[in-house]
Amino acid sequence: MKSWAGVVVVAVTVGIAGQAAAQSPDTARGQRLFNQQCRACHTLEKGGASPAGPNLHGLFGRKAGTAEGYEFSEAMIKSGIVWDEETVAEYSRNPKGKVPGTKMVFAGVRPPAQTPDLVAYLKQATQ
Ligand code: HEC
Repeated sequence: MKSWAGVVVVAVTVGIAGQAAAQSPDTARGQRLFNQQCRACHTLEKGGASPAGPNLHGLFGRKAGTAEGYEFSEAMIKSGIVWDEETVAEYSRNPKGKVPGTKMVFAGVRPPAQTPDLVAYLKQATQ
């Protein structure tokens, strides 16, 4: 009897942990995605370099194409986007779909289903 109770407790605990992971974005995974797929072209810290794409510090709440010290495409400047969780997710998943004519040469986050993790990480790391 005793050992059965132990198995039930473990099963319930694992179940709860699994649910929490499915509901809240995983910023550690988001950081890995950024390092693998975005970092070659973007920095996140204040005053960071723009190696190939613009520095993304202060991204959320800012108008697209207005980061200082970077020459954006006409398409980005005229997009009228104000970056928030939704627009950053859409652009990351499909840059040319969201901003036709953008000069960001990137096919989109892989796997697309992990985009919320990436966006949650960006929200933290660009503040
Ligand atoms: C090959 C280089 C490259 C990669 C890889 C890349 N980007 Fe970019 N990114 C750019 C360039 C270039 C621009 C400027 C686009 C324009 O002006 O049209 C840009 C622009 C952006 C902007 C708009 C910034 C602003 O201030 O308006 C965001 C947001 C962004 N990238 C996010 C990402 C994310 C997230 C990833 C990874 C999933 C990523 N980028 C991967 C080159 C890159």
